[in-house]
Amino acid sequence: MTLSAAQETPYSHELAWPPHLRPFDPWDESIKADPYAHYAWMHEHAPVLRARTPAGDAWFLSRYRDVQLAFRSAKIFSSRRPDPKVFPNVVASDEPDHTRLRSVVAHAFTPKAVARVEGQVRATAEGLLRPMIASGGGEVVGNFAIPLTMSTIAGLMGLSLSKTAQFRQWTEDYTSLLGRLLGSSPGSPTDASGTAAFVAHMDQALDAAPLEADTVLSCIARSRADGKITGSEAAAFGPLLFDAGSQTTSLLIGNGFIVLSEMPHLLARLRANPADVPKFVEELLRCRSSVHRMRRVTTESVEVSGQRIPEGAAVYLLMAAANRDAEKFPNPAVFDMDRDTGGHLGFGFGIHACLGSWLARMEARIVFELLAQTVSAVALDPDPRRAVVPMTAGSGVVSGPKALTVRLAPLQ
Ligand code: HEM
Repeated sequence: MTLSAAQETPYSHELAWPPHLRPFDPWDESIKADPYAHYAWMHEHAPVLRARTPAGDAWFLSRYRDVQLAFRSAKIFSSRRPDPKVFPNVVASDEPDHTRLRSVVAHAFTPKAVARVEGQVRATAEGLLRPMIASGGGEVVGNFAIPLTMSTIAGLMGLSLSKTAQFRQWTEDYTSLLGRLLGSSPGSPTDASGTAAFVAHMDQALDAAPLEADTVLSCIARSRADGKITGSEAAAFGPLLFDAGSQTTSLLIGNGFIVLSEMPHLLARLRANPADVPKFVEELLRCRSSVHRMRRVTTESVEVSGQRIPEGAAVYLLMAAANRDAEKFPNPAVFDMDRDTGGHLGFGFGIHACLGSWLARMEARIVFELLAQTVSAVALDPDPRRAVVPMTAGSGVVSGPKALTVRLAPLQ
């Protein structure tokens, strides 16, 4: 019997990993917290890697050209979920549903639309940062990044954000449930009940949204009333947008604080040249992206970098690995604001490329402009247990600090 290439593709645990690296395991939390050494090895030795996970076999692509091609080939690398009835949203749909859903809210996230809320975002960021600086620092994610990103997306959606802690728990439950259903993480004990409460809350907010208003929830409600989207598609929109709009950007902001603590000279540069802040943000998205991988399922057997991936395979596009591919970005591990970051895949690529990219860029720019203008140094808390607490579980696809405690020296 002739074995097909796919059958011959060894599993991660069968490969000859160097002694300092455990075989890549997508469920291993310590690898997820810092996977870059694994990615570098995979580029060279296993650009198409097969891993056994509790949810079945999965393939991982790490080379820039493979990941970009897969993003581009949406017919072969489908975004559909194992059960399409669960959260029938824009991320989890193929054409023609995808464009129909995306067009419901796309106009609310253009650079022009986002610029309208910039003043509000700046005022909120200032209000949150001031007390932290006054007390010499503190926990950045819960006290700054999450309240900022949640209030921003809530404002655009037209959602009243009475209890940030409750929304934070709900988004964690929602991402954990998604991760469990997709087979990319183990889930959490409260993921189903918390998500049900989250969806019910969003549904009520959708019902209460005035049809004539200009908020995102009102756009969704109008499209539902016009019959452009179904009731379950409308219900799936709110939790998705709230989650996508808050967690990813909070993690990116957290990663940016960490970079500034590692490379103290950058803060002075950003202070002297505020126009360089967007370069800092793009390099952050390339080098320390908060979203590491996106899942696809193959609709036919396909060959990638000499390996055959069968039809129906779960394939993860490792954008964070692709962004560190030396063939595309020389000296990829070096954080270099002056490099050409064009084509980075931090926001994905192709038809599903991030809808909120301009919003995320604007929020991150404001944060790092503000930090450079008000703080002379960012240092991690000397207690390593408090300094950086990596994100675990959740959707399994994001990376960054769940909690981050820093010292902030005010600018005299
Ligand atoms: C640093 C912050 C962010 C990162 C790194 C990020 C990353 C991504 C990535 C990689 C995708 C592609 C998904 C795929 O190919 O399957 C995506 C899609 C998406 N993002 Fe973001 N995102 C961020 C912020 C936001 C924000 C602020 C929003 C606001 C609502 C948002 C909303 C969305 C939506 C709705 C999609 C689905 C687009 C589609 O399927 O057509 N994201 N994002």
